[in-house]
Amino acid sequence: MTWSPMFLIRWLHKWFGLVLGLQFLLWAVSGATMALLDHHKVAAEDAVLPVAQLAAPADPLPLARVAEVEARAGQRFGDPAHPLLRRLQLEAPGTYHHSVIVGNLAEAAAEAVGADALLARVGTYYHDVGKIRRPAFFVENQMGTENPHDRMTPSLSALTVAAHVRDGLDLAREYRLPEMIADFIPEHHGTTVMSYFYHQALERGDQPEPGAYRYDGPKPQTRETAIVMLADAAEAAVRTLQRPTPDRIYEVVRRIIHERLEDGQLDECDLMFRDLEKIAQAFTRILTSIFHPRIEYPDPDRDLTPRRRERVRAR
Ligand SMILES: [Fe+2]
Ligand SMILES: [Fe+2]
Repeated sequence: MTWSPMFLIRWLHKWFGLVLGLQFLLWAVSGATMALLDHHKVAAEDAVLPVAQLAAPADPLPLARVAEVEARAGQRFGDPAHPLLRRLQLEAPGTYHHSVIVGNLAEAAAEAVGADALLARVGTYYHDVGKIRRPAFFVENQMGTENPHDRMTPSLSALTVAAHVRDGLDLAREYRLPEMIADFIPEHHGTTVMSYFYHQALERGDQPEPGAYRYDGPKPQTRETAIVMLADAAEAAVRTLQRPTPDRIYEVVRRIIHERLEDGQLDECDLMFRDLEKIAQAFTRILTSIFHPRIEYPDPDRDLTPRRRERVRAR
């Protein structure tokens, strides 16, 4: 075979034509699926993303489309009017409120370490969605009502609480949540021990296997789900502080992060040691703004004589 100029031109024409044709095909397929998403509003993000990502190396335009689809998925699933979030607001309002606070923490921490802040916030909205099935078994929804765990054995309580992960995954399938959002449901607990019920069992003189009190996992696989695991535990711990000063909040946050690290919960994600300090500071900043002791406003009635009090009220 001789590489004459004409042969070379024909060869280049043939192969470039093939590559351009393939690129055009991929572009057209991703365009068609985008149009489908536009017109039918189906949960097609999962279907569109692989196609757009496949087309991405061939053309810079699909890269912009991937970002667009991801941003749209974030907006759609982060919208409080999403049917599953509406159910959470109505059926487990305490859990919804908790999820919004943890979402703020996760978003700030993700931003601090350069992770996907939108994904962290939206994923957090759904992390405890399984509590819809039995809201009264979770303290944030009890609001002064009887705690059903008071009449249960620790092992039954642990089974009931652990079920919110399985129930959450069922709901994720039912409402066709994208996988990247559904992953927050099992990974926010990883394989941690339900220590409250485990210690309750020890106090009763049972000989519990710690494994029986662990969530099924998996451990967090991404920085975003790991951040939500830390945010969830930090928020719950700080909530119990009597006088939550910034120093105390920071101390509790660091302890929580250290415990999760020691327990191996952060082994399968790619958070760095230097990220952990940035996360602790971001959590402390937000938690301090939420839980700092309020300034006591002076009571206008206090220290007044009855006559003067009457005069003040008459103004
Ligand atoms: Fe949970
Ligand atoms: Fe939670």
